[in-house]
Amino acid sequence: MARKLVAANWKMNGSLARNHDLVGKVLAGLSGVACEVVLCVPHPYLAQVGGLLEGGAVGLGGQDLSAHDAGAYTGEVSGAMLSDLACSHVVVGHSERRKYHAESDALVLEKVQKALQAGLVPILCVGESREEREAGETDRVVLGQLEAVFAGLDDVAARKMIVAYEPVWAIGTGLAATPEMAQAVHAAIRGALGTRLGADAAVVPLLYGGSVNAENAASLFAMEDIDGALVGGASLDAEAFVAICAANAAH
Ligand code: 13P
Repeated sequence: MARKLVAANWKMNGSLARNHDLVGKVLAGLSGVACEVVLCVPHPYLAQVGGLLEGGAVGLGGQDLSAHDAGAYTGEVSGAMLSDLACSHVVVGHSERRKYHAESDALVLEKVQKALQAGLVPILCVGESREEREAGETDRVVLGQLEAVFAGLDDVAARKMIVAYEPVWAIGTGLAATPEMAQAVHAAIRGALGTRLGADAAVVPLLYGGSVNAENAASLFAMEDIDGALVGGASLDAEAFVAICAANAAH
């Protein structure tokens, strides 16, 4: 996959004024950069950011969605609402949702199904904790999270997915996985998808997330099974984010 996909996860950051400034600078910086880019922003700002992106090539995404369609679920946001606001993507099963909102693999699967029904591309997050890695359980944990979702999808749905490998210990710590460490897990994910989808496993983009920055992006993108990045902290800095998107041009 030559052209990389870089998704920004702003997490719970932003303001009307700050978003306006950040998106303006990102769009200006991206002109001429051959990279697929999606901005996953907080729900209250989807309309604003969608307006700023309108007519351009940069996509819009949510950071979560409800497992329900509509009704008495105070505070929840449905896949249909995200689609209505011009989202193309949605992050599902981020480790922060799994940790702070006790999201189980079963709930993550329900959300993925709702996203697909709404015509959204799910960015499914998987990743091990530091303790799990130290115990040698990385592949078991990551492939378990992957299988829990893919087992509930038919082959057509499976081909529409994006998977983001985000080792929990690398998120927001400044301690990214080395390209070799990330590649090893990405290869395991690709292998697992291959037993299910055969050669079509190559059509499922595999993103790496966890302390991606302007300095390490190119070496991560050089790895065979790293198709792009899911970027948290560095996506809030226009210059750093654009540099990450431009890092793919070298490959
Ligand atoms: P950081 O890039 O801040 O480590 O966050 C990664 C992440 O969680 C993206 O979803």
